Amino acid sequence: MGRRLALHGGQKVVPDELKVRWPVVTQTDKDAVMEVLDSGILWAMSAEDGSLLAPQMLALESEFARYLDVKHALAVNGGTSALHMAVAAAGVGPGDEVITTAFSFVATAAAILHHNAIPIFVDIDPRTYNIDVSRIEEKITPRTKAIIPVHIHGLPADMDEIWALARKYELAVIEDACQAPGAYYKGRRTGSLGHMAAFSLNGTKNFGIGEGGLFTTNDDDFRDRANMFRQVGESLPSNDGGSRYQHLLAWNYRAQETQCALARSLLRRLDEVNGLGQRNAAYLTKHLADLPGITPPYIPSDRTSVFHKYRVRLEPEALGIKILPIKFREAVRTALLAEGVDVVLWQTSSMPALPMFQTMAGYGQGYPWTNGASSQKYVYRIEDYPETNRLLDCSLVIGSEFHPVYCQSPKLMECYVEAIAKVFSSLEAIVDGAERYTTAY
Ligand SMILES: Cc1ncc(COP(=O)(O)O)c(C=O)c1O
Repeated sequence: MGRRLALHGGQKVVPDELKVRWPVVTQTDKDAVMEVLDSGILWAMSAEDGSLLAPQMLALESEFARYLDVKHALAVNGGTSALHMAVAAAGVGPGDEVITTAFSFVATAAAILHHNAIPIFVDIDPRTYNIDVSRIEEKITPRTKAIIPVHIHGLPADMDEIWALARKYELAVIEDACQAPGAYYKGRRTGSLGHMAAFSLNGTKNFGIGEGGLFTTNDDDFRDRANMFRQVGESLPSNDGGSRYQHLLAWNYRAQETQCALARSLLRRLDEVNGLGQRNAAYLTKHLADLPGITPPYIPSDRTSVFHKYRVRLEPEALGIKILPIKFREAVRTALLAEGVDVVLWQTSSMPALPMFQTMAGYGQGYPWTNGASSQKYVYRIEDYPETNRLLDCSLVIGSEFHPVYCQSPKLMECYVEAIAKVFSSLEAIVDGAERYTTAY
């Protein structure tokens, strides 16, 4: 029996003052934004000679492209917009199918639906939490047009296996790199690993500035098409040779200059942010690996993670505790929160289990599922994604969106390890009161 838990009136381990709130805004960030406000150029405007006057946006695009070693980057107002631009630029049409993972933020699937296409979900690999590449081929049909692997929690997906399928079936590969800016797969950065990629700059991300997004590609045609989808079907800039007014059906996904200036400023220290996350994650992994009943994240040796989220699996069976996993998770979570550890769930269901897919209300009248000539009846069965369900029931994210691991001090990580060890040495005290079940899986 260990020290008295904070949950039961003991002293909590983690002082709140140690936690650093994300995003961290520096004086350099503030100066960069003020410079834009002083310049009076607040958005991408056309100069008198027809050229594009958007110094911050154009600089961000070329700096980010250089950072990833890709040919093109386009700055937009969010990761969802960048994803949708990629789906549209890939030529995905109404009723086409796009394959993606069952475990992501809903925006991944929404970007497919936004283009009247149909998300087809694949369960996850239980070790990496990324799409299980051995289960993709069985989901490919003549209507499949693209695959969207998500580099979940900052860890790149199995891109070689995905490319092998994409080549075989002539599919577009769109990376959802929203959570993984700066991560490497076999020596190349995410964002350079597919035909196109999308990044999010929302305030919860490693590259988080509030709101914003980036689209990337090495392909000139995809860049030009995505560029038109960014601004109501016009090509931006207007002096790039063709007619500016193409007017295909499109949206307004433009970024603004203050946003781009802030992003440029953070981009200069993105590797530092990711490096801190990696050091903190390595510390947690080193110390948690020896605790029975808790499994740190697995990072294959051919890639790096930027630890957008640090998720651990809980294994009551390894401790000989027979309890429904979700009950164990909740007991541990409550005890850790009481000790002052920031622990969150981040998603409580797979994407196919979301009401959006259970009701299939979509655009109304069954769209997009009744689109096109298909007589295919789509059903999203929650039980078809057992690994995703199991992960969500049996795991916790250490660090929250306000206090992610990539901006914290080593001291806080020491306190986290101490608090987790304390809770795990008193498990009997927290599960005793909980109802005991045999495991559901
Ligand atoms: C995996 C994933 N895809 C897409 C998005 C959407 O990005 P945004 O919020 O910038 O639109 C997010 C983040 O919110 C995400 O985590």
